[in-house]
Amino acid sequence: MSIARLSRDRKRQLGQYLTPESTAVAIVKKLKLSPNARVLEPSFGKGAFIFPILDSFASVLPRNEFLEWCATHLYGCEIDKKAYSEFTEAWRSRSLGDVPSGLELCDFFTWLPPAFDRTIATDRQRYFLSSREYFDLIIGNPPFGGSIEPTIQDELDAIFGMRDGKKIKKETYAFFIVKSIDLLKPGGQLVFICSDTLLTIATMTGLRSWLQNNCDVHISEVPGTFSDTNQNMLILTLTKQHVRPTHITVFEKTVSLEHIETTPNLSWRIDADLAKYFTEMTIGDKMVATSGMTIGNNKLFLRQIVDGRIEEPYEFAYTEEKITLEREIERARLGKLSQRRISQVKDLEERGATEKGIVWKQLETPKCITIPHKEYCYYNKVTSQIIYAEPEWVIFWRDDGDYVYTFKKTGNWYLHGVGGMKYFGREGLSWALIAHRLYARYLPSGFILDSGAPCAFLRNGVDHDELFFILGWALTDTCNRILKNVLNHTRNIQSKDFERLPYPVWVSPECKHKAVMAIKDMLAKVRAGQNFSFKSKEIGALNRLYEWQEGQITEVAVNRKTPRQLTFF
Ligand SMILES: C[S@@+](CC[C@H](N)C(=O)[O-])C[C@H]1O[C@@H](n2cnc3c(N)ncnc32)[C@H](O)[C@@H]1O
Repeated sequence: MSIARLSRDRKRQLGQYLTPESTAVAIVKKLKLSPNARVLEPSFGKGAFIFPILDSFASVLPRNEFLEWCATHLYGCEIDKKAYSEFTEAWRSRSLGDVPSGLELCDFFTWLPPAFDRTIATDRQRYFLSSREYFDLIIGNPPFGGSIEPTIQDELDAIFGMRDGKKIKKETYAFFIVKSIDLLKPGGQLVFICSDTLLTIATMTGLRSWLQNNCDVHISEVPGTFSDTNQNMLILTLTKQHVRPTHITVFEKTVSLEHIETTPNLSWRIDADLAKYFTEMTIGDKMVATSGMTIGNNKLFLRQIVDGRIEEPYEFAYTEEKITLEREIERARLGKLSQRRISQVKDLEERGATEKGIVWKQLETPKCITIPHKEYCYYNKVTSQIIYAEPEWVIFWRDDGDYVYTFKKTGNWYLHGVGGMKYFGREGLSWALIAHRLYARYLPSGFILDSGAPCAFLRNGVDHDELFFILGWALTDTCNRILKNVLNHTRNIQSKDFERLPYPVWVSPECKHKAVMAIKDMLAKVRAGQNFSFKSKEIGALNRLYEWQEGQITEVAVNRKTPRQLTFF
């Protein structure tokens, strides 16, 4: 592996995207720092925040008091030796004497401030039984997407993985925030630069819930720009409170907790206008959504249909491959296997055991095959067409896909699962996974599903016309505003995001009928060769059919725990 690649990988593993000096200075300038404040920077890197903090104290305190403050009130952790040694060099170059003992080369997750009772035996008990509220200010830019030391992951999950009965995602920035809030005194402040995914993504719902119930939450823009990462960042300022606030502030707008709590993901990007759409019912009450599979080698199995035919360049066959430990490790996650698996594989290797694999050879002349054909299935690859797209791809599907499944099973660990398998072949809806809005279209039965185009299928017993009604809704501007502003503002549109969309209960039965007819009509027209775009007048008309109608609620979900029942007013 090249040195550049190694250092890039290391940087990614450590979530090491350093804060530009001007940004850190601008953030620190806004703080009201008191000489009694105990300050922690939990991942200080080369000291982007520490030095501006020192500068602000150095200018107001006499030198002896300033040095005393550094020795007794300043704490920090940094896990990376290289960053730490650059930091210590920078410290010494300022003639500040030795680096204070509070600034340590260590892992923040296992580090404990002096307040902890070190006589308590286990990490978990020590953490929960000690008095933890020690700091007045915790500031920094915690690692985003970094990896957590595998040997302590379970222990950390037991300590930080649950708050107020809700799951906290095992992610470096989430656990950094949780531990930091634990370490703050009541009334203390946390100021972190962090990824703006915090605002909506579903996996951070538990974190948002805990923070908004225990802190004053203030989200603001990061001054300046980061060249180190293209991830959008924000400043998260939390003031620890024991009284639950009524609202949070997001980019100078007040967002009420009441509105946040209407949304299934506790979105911090909700507003009063969009909150009304979140009645009890979601699309998930009518449809189940799923991602599709990742083949691992599209070229090997996918063929493009041209004039009703494909060209097959390969001849496939089954083979028996020797099982070896080396091969097993090669395809394991992080190149690691459990001791139990190692001894199982060793045993199989010694006995000369084999597993089914596939082989293929390039044909001298590709075979020309007319589609449909019993050994090929239509494949639902991503497209930006809306309403409907003619099948453009097929997948080699001899023996009900066994060649593809065998290829995946004998490949790298991440190929072993088959996403959406139980929905293969069903009629439903589909859209592009990565898009700025839903490019929604009808999916006829008979398709194998690809991960780039998630799909949704009617739940058992749901009226067939709902497929067209929901397709119409997915094409409207309002639905997309809700999706991209409130439910998930990142570029992906996951299957669960689709399920979380409000189901349009406010549409009257008359408008609903019109919408279903309009979609069926457009579908017939696309099949006959016509194209529609979001600018087409027919889509404009759909927008009007799904408009909010005050006082109109046609359906409510009565009790989600029992089989879905519908009540009509
Ligand atoms: C986004 S950088 C920010 C560094 C510095 N705070 C700044 O603003 O420039 C995150 C830092 O966290 C460090 N880090 C990653 N995991 C850590 C851990 N478990 N404990 C302490 N530091 C960690 C990385 O080495 C990196 O220096």
